[in-house]
Amino acid sequence: MKLILLIFICCSFMITSCKQEDNLKYKDKTVTIEDRINDLVGRMTLKEKIFQLNQYIFGVNTNANNIGETINEIPPEIGSLIYFSSDPETRNQLQKKAMEETRLGIPILFGFDVIHGFRTIYPISLAQACSWNPELVKNACAVAAKESKLSGVDWTFSPMIDVARDARWGRVAEGYGEDQYTNAVFGVASVMGYQGESLSDTFSIAACLKHYVGYGQSEGGRDYRYTEVSPQSLWETFLPPYEACVKAGAATLMSAFNDISGVPATANHYTLTEILKERWKHDGFVVSDWDAVDQLINQGVAGDRKEAGYKAFMAGVEMDMKDNIYMENIPQLVNEKKIPIEKIDDAVARILRIKFRLGLFDKPYTTIVEETNRYLQPASRAIAKQLAVESIVLLKNEKQILPLETALKSIALIGPMANDKSNLMGAWSYNGKEQDVESILEGLIKEYKNEVSINFSKGCDFDGIDEAGFQEAIKAAQKSEIIIVCLGEKKNWSGENASRSSIALPPIQEKLVTELHKTGKPLILVLSNGRPLELVRLEPLADAIVEIWQPGTEGGSAVAGILSGKFNPSGKLAITFPLTTGQIPIYYNMRPSARTGTQGNYQDISTEPLYWFGHGMSYSDFEYDSVRISSEKITREQKLIAEVTVSNSGKMTGKETVLWFISDPVCSISRPVKELKYFDKKEIQAGSKTTFRFEIDPMRDLSYVDATGNRILESGGFYIHVNGQKLKFELVD
Ligand code: NOJ
Repeated sequence: MKLILLIFICCSFMITSCKQEDNLKYKDKTVTIEDRINDLVGRMTLKEKIFQLNQYIFGVNTNANNIGETINEIPPEIGSLIYFSSDPETRNQLQKKAMEETRLGIPILFGFDVIHGFRTIYPISLAQACSWNPELVKNACAVAAKESKLSGVDWTFSPMIDVARDARWGRVAEGYGEDQYTNAVFGVASVMGYQGESLSDTFSIAACLKHYVGYGQSEGGRDYRYTEVSPQSLWETFLPPYEACVKAGAATLMSAFNDISGVPATANHYTLTEILKERWKHDGFVVSDWDAVDQLINQGVAGDRKEAGYKAFMAGVEMDMKDNIYMENIPQLVNEKKIPIEKIDDAVARILRIKFRLGLFDKPYTTIVEETNRYLQPASRAIAKQLAVESIVLLKNEKQILPLETALKSIALIGPMANDKSNLMGAWSYNGKEQDVESILEGLIKEYKNEVSINFSKGCDFDGIDEAGFQEAIKAAQKSEIIIVCLGEKKNWSGENASRSSIALPPIQEKLVTELHKTGKPLILVLSNGRPLELVRLEPLADAIVEIWQPGTEGGSAVAGILSGKFNPSGKLAITFPLTTGQIPIYYNMRPSARTGTQGNYQDISTEPLYWFGHGMSYSDFEYDSVRISSEKITREQKLIAEVTVSNSGKMTGKETVLWFISDPVCSISRPVKELKYFDKKEIQAGSKTTFRFEIDPMRDLSYVDATGNRILESGGFYIHVNGQKLKFELVD
């Protein structure tokens, strides 16, 4: 009894003493962050430390793939919450409890999936990469950060930088395509947009690189599956975007669901600790993906939840997303001396570091701003529109049927996507609202006012077998001069747990086009989808094909402007469009085949894809002159300057992206047939020309990385590839 009384008195003393001492070192803004962390960790009990290592969910989870019970009683000591709400006041109430009703007053970190915009929805990431405009992507992410921050969110689970080469995988929509350099550049742009100059800026939020690592390699495109990632491809293909974004200051990473060649990404000491923390010196933290710790049991490396928690924590996952395993098991693991307290302290320090950097200790509450001033501001919509315009890819334009004739008087606008709003937003657009989106039909009506009659008919649904609408669609086509068919994928056909065994559009959509084609009218296909599509049967029926991806809030007016010629298309593919699903995997930076010519090709179809990475047309005519190089020989210390002048001989001003590739034909490790090393997008006035320049740094651009991550530069011959030209130069010792 005496002992209990003593404990009670001590505890009460601890609580009151911490509360009263507002001059505690960790609360003092003038002290360095590292000193504040040390001071705070030194005061924490084991239980308080373990709270920091856990993330719970708050609110109603609307993600059908990740069902978790809503927690009614949030412990105010919790490290983080996934905030399924956009109400800043509720966040402030939760935060007030953490700040005022806990012994140490540690703020909660509120995270959420802000993937391509918060309320103002931007094109999906795959589309963003096709813009080849990282500055624009950075600006879009900055707007997303501001809308998030004003809604109570401090941390986004974005960007996804998983190199993805299998279009059957639903998550190709969420990343920046098939190439590691592209993923690195856009990942960095996105981190810079979210995090701003400093994490403590008013509208900065913390980024989270995901899904670390190799998730894009999911076997057969099936989600959550095993991935076969050799050490060579880990270093060469999957790690570079992460390394670039860690160097750019990304605050956090998320460990992936996949099992990397037998060692799950969430229990992988090599990737999480040896590479991330020891080699790259990342000082932020890693959160597991949803239930990924528990899933170590399904993956066959842990016998029970305790072992799963032990493996994930010891491998280097500091925060357990939602599954409560750390909360339940770490105390015992520490008592049993299986987990050293120093390791707990390091994990807690990493989490606190991000909270301190975000300024949460000093400014824990969200400023309340009227909803009308919070979202969809004119400047945000303008960025959304520009990004939608620049990410649209003109895949085909026979006889320059686009832009539409100015004398045109009637258009048949047909297809399930023509007057759709919800699907234009794409997967992961929780707070996006249909009411904010303009459909393609509305966009065209606005664009043409009453000058062109637009005969709309849906024709059919996205899938199913109901052809009842075909007749009306054919009639609309017959009475119009031109047919625009808007087809595509529903938004939930992409994203997590959204794999497809075929990347063709459902037969009903293909049949609609076949019937419309019989009218003999010119036919333009507008495609909205989250992955490359198998277009082998549709392509011959279309005079023009416009890939609009899932363009977001401003999609309708962007598409209308591209069709009318108000905007000039400038997107180029960041992912290859296979001819058929059976060609998968197919990507531009493959390694050379042992036999050249036709040997090793498919016997039944062409071995070439329909559209390669980098393909994309314009209404301008861009002509490249011969590539010039500063020297045919350079040493390791020298730089090589390559230049090419591009003329716009067309009638419209347009933007052109020059993609600079390098190949190394003879090397100790066989190198890809070519690799993207740099790109640059510039506007070129009609009738004028511009010079593009690439400064080649031998160590950065001519070296390769081996299976242990060592960078090696071998002398010898190299090629520069630009727009079909190939130029040799030599690196000498
Ligand atoms: C699972 C997804 O894989 C991940 O991308 C997402 O951030 C988390 N769920 C949280 O919703």
